[in-house]
Amino acid sequence: MPDLGWNDFDTLESYIANEQRKYPESRGIFADVVRRIGIASKVVAVKVQKAGLLDVLGSHGAHNVQGEEQQKLDVIANEIMKATFEWMPLVAGIATEEEEDYTVYPPKPENEGDRYIILFDPLDGSSNIDANVSVGTIFSIHRVEGGGYRTKLSDFLQPGKSQVAAGYVIYGSSTMFVFSTGFGVHGFTLDPEIGEYVLSHENIRVPDQCTCFSANEANYKKWDEPTQRFADHLRYGDDEIYEITTSRYIGSLVADFHRNLLHGGVFMYPADAQTGKGKLRLLYECAPMAMLMEQAGGMATTGRERIMDIVPTELHQRVPVAFGAVREMEMYEGMVAEADEQ
Ligand code: AHG
Ligand code: MN
Ligand code: MN
Repeated sequence: MPDLGWNDFDTLESYIANEQRKYPESRGIFADVVRRIGIASKVVAVKVQKAGLLDVLGSHGAHNVQGEEQQKLDVIANEIMKATFEWMPLVAGIATEEEEDYTVYPPKPENEGDRYIILFDPLDGSSNIDANVSVGTIFSIHRVEGGGYRTKLSDFLQPGKSQVAAGYVIYGSSTMFVFSTGFGVHGFTLDPEIGEYVLSHENIRVPDQCTCFSANEANYKKWDEPTQRFADHLRYGDDEIYEITTSRYIGSLVADFHRNLLHGGVFMYPADAQTGKGKLRLLYECAPMAMLMEQAGGMATTGRERIMDIVPTELHQRVPVAFGAVREMEMYEGMVAEADEQ
């Protein structure tokens, strides 16, 4: 046998196929959707990598539904994701951070059984693109029972705990696809030589040691008292567990989350105490990341409520969020509860 330069390995394709075999009770048909996201992400990755070469950097000159300036790459990534799903018979509809309304795809007559709703943040961290900082794509998949013939808003407003899969792609020094179908969290690195996602991080578990504290600390004065107390404890407290805890904040959720998932740490985007509102979007950012964090052994909370339990009331709802290992998340919830009791 000649030396081919590679050994037997799992690709995203083969892993999904195997995962279905391992868990025959899982429905599995949405594996097609996950595969398809993998392909779309390769197209986005190419665009992101060429960003400096193509005339795609900078503002598109328009604003998205949340009043934020859209970057050209936001628009491009959004179009790529939409084009990926619109012909897929399994997809009942999509909602994206970049568009005010959801889109429903009519079922084909031969289409029986469950179909799926895909929610996505096509390009997360896009305000950093001009500075060559890592960005990502986040996705969340829900089932619509009964073929999705009358897909409606409530099918999109499902709590995080009913996700059948969630994940992200990080366009960093390498491109990685990280996802969960409820059987752990697995990471695949794009091998540029063969153009395939290859299993590189099987069954990721978030470390217990809180190595990083990640929040936009310029907002500290806007946080409520228990949030400030929690942040102070991790950063300057005399608990020796936190002696090695250091501040790390990129401003791209995917990149901050990914680092903390691998190295251990707390990421938070707390509420503005005056308005009580968070910044990150429940459906496109918080719920999918919450599924991954829980599947990796950690927790995701608003401080008062498990993120996965929140029933959304609107598509673009924003919630306060903290992700981390159980110890720190329980400590945070404890501090919030203590303050609420007073
Ligand atoms: P997006 O680029 O999809 O609009 O998301 C930006 C988000 C998220 O990636 C990041 O965690 C957060 O905004 C950063 O916000 P601040 O600049 O307020 O820290
Ligand atoms: Mn985002
Ligand atoms: Mn975005």
